[in-house]
Amino acid sequence: MVAKEVIKNFEGVCKNLKAQEKLNIIIVGTGYVGLTTGLALGYLGHKVTCVDTDTAIIDKLERGISTIYEPGLEDLLKDKGNIVQFTDRLLESLSNADIVVIAVGTPSKSNGDTDLSFVEAVAREVGSAMDPDQPPVIVNKSTVPIGTARRVEAVIKEELERRGISSTFSVASNPEFLREGAALHDTFYPDRIVVGANDMHALNMLRQMYAPILEQTFTPPQSVLRPESYSLPALVTTSPTSAELIKYSANAFLAMKISFINEFATIAEKVGADINEVAKGIGLDKRIGTGFLKAGVGWGGSCFPKDVRSILFTAGQYNCELQLISAALDVNQKQRMKIIEKLQQTLKVVRGSTIGILGLAFKPNTDDIRESPAIDIINELLEMGARVKVYDPVAQQKYRETYPEQKIVYCDSAVDTARECDALAILTDWDEFWQLPWKEIGQSMDQKIIIDGRNMLNCEEIKKYGFTYSGIGR
Ligand code: UDX
Repeated sequence: MVAKEVIKNFEGVCKNLKAQEKLNIIIVGTGYVGLTTGLALGYLGHKVTCVDTDTAIIDKLERGISTIYEPGLEDLLKDKGNIVQFTDRLLESLSNADIVVIAVGTPSKSNGDTDLSFVEAVAREVGSAMDPDQPPVIVNKSTVPIGTARRVEAVIKEELERRGISSTFSVASNPEFLREGAALHDTFYPDRIVVGANDMHALNMLRQMYAPILEQTFTPPQSVLRPESYSLPALVTTSPTSAELIKYSANAFLAMKISFINEFATIAEKVGADINEVAKGIGLDKRIGTGFLKAGVGWGGSCFPKDVRSILFTAGQYNCELQLISAALDVNQKQRMKIIEKLQQTLKVVRGSTIGILGLAFKPNTDDIRESPAIDIINELLEMGARVKVYDPVAQQKYRETYPEQKIVYCDSAVDTARECDALAILTDWDEFWQLPWKEIGQSMDQKIIIDGRNMLNCEEIKKYGFTYSGIGR
């Protein structure tokens, strides 16, 4: 534990790295990971260039407009002239690069395998143009299957050989653990930084890149303050393969933890226990921990589902069965349908009913709807012949663009959504849903039924307004 005073003593001293500590860093890919990492490293004083082939994205970022919804990002972007450059030309930015961070997308294939074509394309470009006398350290930050560090190395070697060059260079694996909605916070104040490298040069370069974070020598940005209780992060150094597996293990474990509590929510309902009380009771055991024990409609997003499927695929290739992880995935799929079951139990007939959905994003503080439980639930309701009204404070536009063909009524507020509904289902725990005018909402509904898919409401309070309330495992 680092004393607060120690951190305070450093504040303001070292926001600007000394010239010899500054690295020339290229970040390829400006999605959640790339953009956040690029802006954070730029803020810390490195010379950062963010590259993306999508010129529309680069154009927007150039104008200081964020292309993703992420708290604190706009503030750093306002300052971007001083901290980061944006370009669509990787080849031109490669000269003088100390580190090239690959943070491009790694989508799922239909069989659960990971599509590495974007990663390999970057590796190829790097190999075709990098300076063999002063090769940059190549860093895999995208979540990639086991062996990708070796694959990237092989692709770069091929390109160098094509140029008639035989040069040694390092490829390291540096997985990210940032949560959407808290991406900058997790970048500046991580629990640990994992670096998988086979040689000291790569390790030292990454240590230098992360030095301001490892030592917390920077003045926190106004919008991403350092938590009072924060202690210095550990630097975990491993082989590239272990680093790759650490990322999958972390996400699989967290997904499993949520599926565990969701499974127990089902038995809690049957025996008349409250899963929130159970979660608290077990979470305070330090061996278990309180995090990721919130029962609800299950996990979604761009990482857990994809990474769980990917590690299951890899395990399959090794003829190795990951039974717990398969079960976690299975439980998660069924968990979404709990909302439908609850609607059937309370409404009896869903066909012809009007159902209001509060929340489309897979979690609050993001506009990301990838693999959001809302998608499966809305599809099922439409399939069953229900009329669906929806509201999400941020993700609504994205949902409409992604599913333009769906007959959904988009509303401007939770109150507007509830009007003439037979039931309301809360699917994302947005802050604004904590304090809704329940009396007014109840008066405007045809039937006063609430399915609280995130266990966020005080059920006793809600029942006072005459609602029939059903949470998850309460
Ligand atoms: C996750 C990991 O946390 C992060 O380390 C990794 O780098 C990327 O994947 P993210 O997907 O952004 O981050 O969100 P997270 O906060 O982990 O939530 C994932 C899903 O689990 C969400 O759908 C959330 O609603 C759900 N969840 C989370 C629960 O249902 N219960 C919980 O207790 C915690």
